[in-house]
This record gives sequence, structure tokens and C-alpha cells, in this order.
Amino acid sequence: MKKSYNIKIKSLLLCIAITISSCSFFKSKTKNAQTVAEMEASKSQAIEDFNDAKYGMFIHWGLYAIPGGVWKGKKIEDYGRPPVAEWIQCTAQIPRDEYAALAPQFNPEDFDADAIAKLAKDAGMKYLVITSKHHDGFAMYHSKVSDYNIVDATPFKRDVVQELYDACKKYGIDFGLYYSHNIDWMDGNDCGYADLAASGREMNAKAKRKMGANTWDPSSNSFQSYLTNKAFPQVKEILTQFPDLKTLWYDMPHYLSPKQSADFYKLAYELQPNMLVNSRVGNDMGDFDIPGDNKIPKDHLAITKPWQTVGTTNNSWGYKSYDHDWKSVKELLFWLTEIVSKGGNYMLNIGPNASGEVPQESIDNLRAVGNWLAINGEAIYNTRKWKVTHEGPTVLEMNGTHDRAQKKDKTISFTPQDFWFTQKENTLYAIALEYPTTKISIKSFGSTSVGTIKSVQMLGVTDQLEWAQTDEGLQVHLAKNRGNSHGYALKIGF
Ligand code: GLC
Repeated sequence: MKKSYNIKIKSLLLCIAITISSCSFFKSKTKNAQTVAEMEASKSQAIEDFNDAKYGMFIHWGLYAIPGGVWKGKKIEDYGRPPVAEWIQCTAQIPRDEYAALAPQFNPEDFDADAIAKLAKDAGMKYLVITSKHHDGFAMYHSKVSDYNIVDATPFKRDVVQELYDACKKYGIDFGLYYSHNIDWMDGNDCGYADLAASGREMNAKAKRKMGANTWDPSSNSFQSYLTNKAFPQVKEILTQFPDLKTLWYDMPHYLSPKQSADFYKLAYELQPNMLVNSRVGNDMGDFDIPGDNKIPKDHLAITKPWQTVGTTNNSWGYKSYDHDWKSVKELLFWLTEIVSKGGNYMLNIGPNASGEVPQESIDNLRAVGNWLAINGEAIYNTRKWKVTHEGPTVLEMNGTHDRAQKKDKTISFTPQDFWFTQKENTLYAIALEYPTTKISIKSFGSTSVGTIKSVQMLGVTDQLEWAQTDEGLQVHLAKNRGNSHGYALKIGF
């Protein structure tokens, strides 16, 4: 009796133990599932906000603004590629000490964070992302991890990231940071090339350099020690120092392993779970995609994540003193409308010079786009892509920074028959970048394809429009009162 009681007790204890352990197994599984669910839920609002915002400002600024694309009297093109000014240390193969000697010369007294945040606001931009550290390894904020930073290494001694962070709060502009996690010509050495080569994949020296490895004057750090002692601590630092970021913009992940990318993603999530991380964290991770620099995707439907095209105002990200090939207001409006009609975001760059001034052409063009948006913004912000993105004869392809820079004929013009479309709930918008002389006909709005239209209104214009809808499309006589000389938008109600 006693024995059997013991056995019963034992089996009861065993049962309890199994129940507890299976319970904790279940609990840990649930916890994991909850964590993923929580992560998705916490980011879904951020993704909606991202899809609503549409237009933001990118800023590339660092020591490279001093040479402005010219090193020892020679233009960057004479050294090779890439010819974008922020790459001068790599393209001209400048030794680390020689490049670092730019820091004591960096004294951008004309830098005005308030004016830049206000420019973003006036331009109709909803967010701003600045380079906290670019490939040269120089931090534009006060880093405790590395004294190779704007406060400790320059006579300027001001934390420009902090100043912009504060100014953006004042103007209601969302803030984000770019951080070059993989490439660091000062401390990063070979971008993990040795580790990769050891794993069996070979690459020639040219490919290595192209990927941003410092092959001309590498530091003695191993890539791993750079990650452990600089990149991860600095990412942690910026996410702590700037606690309210909308995006963390990593760049050029090339040789990073899936584990290294995951660690960069995780670190960001742990510190700021509602912040979006771009796909350049590497290895197919990240919350939104970048189809390419200065590139508009041909097949936007093939992109499964939210996406953002980043673009330059001329053909360089960092200030390039002799690049006067500025995109016209019309061209910028085309980039914006084409991207938004395909459901993307446009982040347009400015590159302040060594005294901190934004090139006047950038300012003027950004403001002109802002004036257009002040009238037509309803057709851009908070919209989503429609089944048709564009109708009309003009087909332009934008295939990258170099592609645009090389184009001989950069004339951008449109016809009054070109329309880009967006939608918002029960409303469709048609955007045109050219006015007609008489009436227009929008073929995509025929009654069989969209149903019966109840109202047609030109944004920013109060006059009633004369219009008629048939199976063939929507015909509209436009009001004489034109809102903005660069184009207009029609709001179509059902
Ligand atoms: C590229 C370049 C870089 C620039 C960036 C912008 O990755 O390396 O200089 O910062 O594109 O998207």
C-alpha cells in the first residue's frame, strides 16, 4: 500500500514535472510567437506611416565636402570610379592619415540646422535622413566610441546630428540616420573579405575595391574587431543618443554574413522597435526595400516590401563643386509622381558644402517642388498605387546614378496626354505635368473600367469644371485658373 502510494506519488510527481516542462515548452514557444507577432504589429503602423509619407530629404555630409570631388588638383573622374564625391578617399586611394588631416580643416560655420529642417518642411518633405557615419568612417555626431568625430576632431566642435534632430522636432519632420555598417575606410579594413575568401568564395582585387574594401591603406584591425569595437557600439550609441528615429539606413552590406546582418537588425529592433530598417542591412533582411540609387523600378509589382528610391539633385551624393548638372523642377516632379504612382517613397538628397551651405540650385528646386506640392500634395501624400500607374506617350527609364549622369540629352518634357495615377479610399487622382491647350481625355477613366464618376475637381482651383464620361474615357475642359505652372492634379470622386 505504502509502496503503491509511493509509486503513485512518484508518477504523480512525474506527471506534474512533465506538465510543468511541457507548459514551459509551450510557454516559450508562445513567447517566441508573441515576439514575432509583437514585432510585426509594432512595425505595421510604422510601415503605414512610411507608405503615407512619400517624400523625404537625404543628406550626405562629411569631410568629403572639403575636397568636393577634387583631390590634388585632379577631378575624381580622373582617378576612376565611382565618381560620386563622398567616395573620393577610395577612388583616389587616399591614405588614411592624409584623409584624416581634413578633420582639423572642417569648420562649417554656415551650417544651420534650423534652415535645413525648414527647407525640408517648405519642400513638402515629411522626413529627413542624414549620414551619421559614411564609408570614410568619420562620425558626424559626438561619438564616445571613436574620437574620429565632428566634435572631438574638428575646430567646429558641434554635433550636427543632434542639431538637426532637434530642428526636425521643431518643424515636425521625422528623423532617421544613415550608418555605413560594413564599409569603413578608416577602421573597417577589408569589409569581411578575408572571412569570405576563407569560406571558399574568391573575388579579384578590382571587385574587392568596388565593394568598398580598403585595399590601398588598410587598418590593422580585423573586420571582426571593427564590428565589435566600432560598428556595433556606434549603432548602439546613435540609437541611444537619438531615441526617436523613424528609420535606420544601413548601406552597402556586400560581404556581411547572414548572422552579422541579423545582429545589426536585432540591435536596431531591441533599441527602437518601431523604427524601420532598410534592406541594405543585408542578406534579404530589412523592413523596406531600396530598388537602387537613382533607380525607379520598372516592375514595381515585383517588389514585395514597401520601398524607397533614393535620388540625387545633381549626380553626386556628397558635395561636388563642379557638378552643375542639376535635375530640373520638372524632372524632380517626374521622379516623385512616377515613384508615388508605383507605390514607393522618394528620398531626395542634398549635399552641403564645406562651410555647411546647401547649394542654391538644390534649395530653389526643392522649394519649387514644395510649391507644387502645396497645391497638389493631396494627390501624393497618404495615397496608394492604383492598377494603372501612367497613361500617355512619354516613357522614361531611370536606371541609376551613372546612367543618368551619362545621358547626353537630359531634356525632360511631357505631353498633356501624360497622366500618373494614385488613389485614396474612394477617390482617384490623375496628375499631369503639362497643361493642354483645350480639353483633355483620360482613357483609363472610361465608365466600363472605373464605374460612374460623380465629381471632377482640379486641386487648388475652386471653379466648376466642365466634364463628361464615356466608355472611352473622361473628357475635361480645364479651368483657366492654373494652380501651378509645372502641372496639376485632378481629383475624381465616385
Ligand atoms: C551608395 C554609395 C553611397 C551613397 C548611397 C546612397 O551605396 O556607396 O556613397 O551613400 O549609395 O544611396
